[in-house]
Amino acid sequence: MITREQVIWAYRLLLDREPENEMVISDYIKKYQSPDQLRDVIISSEEYQSKNPAFTQSNLLKPFPPKDLLNLVAGSTNLPWFLQSGAKGRQSIDLILKKNNISLNEISTALDFGCGCGRVIRYWEKYSDTIDIYGCDYNPRLIKWCRKHIKFAKFYLNRFSPPLKYKNEYFDLVYAFSVFTHLTEKNQFLWLDEFDRILCQDGLLLFSTHGEGFLDHLGSSDKIIFNKGHLVVLDEVHEGKNTCAAFHPYDYVSKKMNHRFDMVDFIPRGALGNPGQDLYLFRKNNP
Ligand SMILES: C[S@@+](CC[C@H](N)C(=O)[O-])C[C@H]1O[C@@H](n2cnc3c(N)ncnc32)[C@H](O)[C@@H]1O
Repeated sequence: MITREQVIWAYRLLLDREPENEMVISDYIKKYQSPDQLRDVIISSEEYQSKNPAFTQSNLLKPFPPKDLLNLVAGSTNLPWFLQSGAKGRQSIDLILKKNNISLNEISTALDFGCGCGRVIRYWEKYSDTIDIYGCDYNPRLIKWCRKHIKFAKFYLNRFSPPLKYKNEYFDLVYAFSVFTHLTEKNQFLWLDEFDRILCQDGLLLFSTHGEGFLDHLGSSDKIIFNKGHLVVLDEVHEGKNTCAAFHPYDYVSKKMNHRFDMVDFIPRGALGNPGQDLYLFRKNNP
């Protein structure tokens, strides 16, 4: 929940003005659940961007993917949002590892599965002396862009379904932000098996899903299915694209997706770079 005061202060601090009227304030209160969401929405607005041109023009944040790729991956051409949310995605990896007393020193190989145009992987550069960073995606345009612009990581164009080209037990960490959110059940299980193959003993698997925070996106009959603990997948024919949307109840993930993995942590709405998505951390269980 956010309060009227929080909306007013967000306006003053970020936009340097008062909200237009009470209706605007109550719209924000109705639509957004947390101060973080409120801030993200304001920072993503045209007004914020035009008042803060340095934010998007800074060379520090380059390279910038072109708008069509931003749109393909994030459903929006908003560059500041892309940059900020990617940093937060990277940060949410640190936070969940720290919360579970896992040090980044335990990781020497990491894979960003479904890396898109590098929204999150771009923030691994400072670790690239000690960690071999890999990214893969099935979309050739995205991998082409990543290969050309993100030099510290190795990129690979995979097929839509497994296998990947990597050796058995190669990775210490595989993560997938907002990828299982666009796959059918069949492919999710194929990919879980593949992650099991490429993860080393005790390797970590981190992924985000649309959980309870996305119930409003479902019609009433799908809500019932979700609330009974079943996976809901909309527009399955467009699997892999953002129009295909999968919704995972916690019960489904904890009971059905833990084949060969132990759940280490579940943070509802914990994927900071994918507002509202749940975050799961699993460890490969070695029989
Ligand atoms: C919503 S985007 C998220 C991209 C990136 N993970 C991020 O957080 O910015 C979903 C990504 O998953 C990729 N993807 C979907 N199905 C895939 C598959 N079977 N293999 C690899 N990548 C896949 C898409 O091409 C797209 O880049």
